[in-house]
Amino acid sequence: MSLALTRGDLIRRHNFIDGLWAGAFDGACFAVSNPATSETIAEVADSGTVDARAATDAAARAFPGWRDMLARERAEILRRWHALIVANTEDLARLMSMEQGKPLTESRGEVAYGASYVAWFADEAIRIYGDLIPQQQRGKRMSAVKEPVGVVAAITPWNFPLAMIVRKIAPALAAGCTVVAKPAEDTPLTALALAALAQEAGLPDGVLNMVSASRAQGVIAVADWLADPRVRKITFTGSTPVGKHLAREAAGTLKRLSLELGGNAPFIVFDDADLDAAVTGLMAAKFRNGGQTCVCPNRIYVQGSVYTDFANRLAKRVAALTVGPATDPGAQIGPMINARAVDKIARHVDEAVQRGATVLVGGRRLTELGANFYAPTVLTDANDDMLFCSEETFGPIAPLFRFDDEAQALRLANATPYGLAAYFYTQDVRRINRVAGQLEAGVVGINEGAVSSEAAPFGGVKESGYGREGSKYGLDDYLAVKYMCQGGLN
Ligand code: SIN
Repeated sequence: MSLALTRGDLIRRHNFIDGLWAGAFDGACFAVSNPATSETIAEVADSGTVDARAATDAAARAFPGWRDMLARERAEILRRWHALIVANTEDLARLMSMEQGKPLTESRGEVAYGASYVAWFADEAIRIYGDLIPQQQRGKRMSAVKEPVGVVAAITPWNFPLAMIVRKIAPALAAGCTVVAKPAEDTPLTALALAALAQEAGLPDGVLNMVSASRAQGVIAVADWLADPRVRKITFTGSTPVGKHLAREAAGTLKRLSLELGGNAPFIVFDDADLDAAVTGLMAAKFRNGGQTCVCPNRIYVQGSVYTDFANRLAKRVAALTVGPATDPGAQIGPMINARAVDKIARHVDEAVQRGATVLVGGRRLTELGANFYAPTVLTDANDDMLFCSEETFGPIAPLFRFDDEAQALRLANATPYGLAAYFYTQDVRRINRVAGQLEAGVVGINEGAVSSEAAPFGGVKESGYGREGSKYGLDDYLAVKYMCQGGLN
């Protein structure tokens, strides 16, 4: 199978600023490679301060016009963008598989998932209501309206090259904000193709601006956005250390922030759970995108009396997974994004084994497939001293911890600075209420491993960040409430 595109013009190598496509100011480029083969796919613009500033200039200029459009006019453009994304599913999926490595079926699923946010926020754009506040004093009318915050900078990760950027841009545009965006250095091509489709959908010049940058240059470009008072909001998905850095730097101009940061999700299997359902839920949650999602279970807690049974059922399912490049139609798990990612996974597994864990399945690099492949792995006898408890592995590794009772499971599950997702399986309705209420997480899966949806508020607590993406709540992050008090009415 080839990953060639039907529409070659969707491969964009330049920045998109003020409706124009142009290389970086100084002509610099960097290579984007296929993680399955390490071959270069394209050289794209390596942007710095001048490019970032030009993007902000364009977004600031475009803001009043976009803000003042009728909500239904903005919604119409979003609907056209949605239709174009859906119509170009196959090309977008191929592009994504090429630069990110995920199997084509997953890439197609991600196009549908990402597009659903555009449709959702097109619908939400026309429902941004304010309030007329019940009269408090005679002769005065008090009201509250919601206004777009202004220019938004979106900084997005490589694990979902389409869905993560779309679920920031779509609500921002729906709210009436203009956008400057920088996709991850590993996966800029899908994002740039999305920008081309937004232009085709009729988005006015300057409303969306996108710059690509290597890791080192990206820091410089983002620093310019952080310092620029015209950028009123930063929305970021990525690691907690980077999120903290952005929060510190954004304090200089008191920008609003949405931070969707790291997770270390617990997955609890109680002894009254439907074990087959729990295994199926874990397979969906753990091995989606090769374990490279912020909501992937990182610590799997299984009650002692069902531990061995659960481990054996899981091992059977994991051993049957097919690993391969996206060009392999049967592949269920692709390569990891880069060498750093595989090294981290290997370090976590090796350290766990040294500390007493047992490998039931996997536990090794698959060098016969390429440098970035790692086998889906099940480990038993995991314990609190292992790196899984303090770091997010971000790979296809399922470490199984043993627990005795509900109180201990909750204590272990919450013993982390992170609080993005948590999952548990039980058939006891009273336990469902108790445990769901006590888990410290922004997203809780109850007898369910697939929790993501455009209709749901996605986001964390504790050091997993703040702000919500998707759902009716997802618009609030891009809106400021203005209170107006009109006097002299008596
Ligand atoms: C993420 O991993 O950051 C997002 C996962 C999702 O949207 O389900």
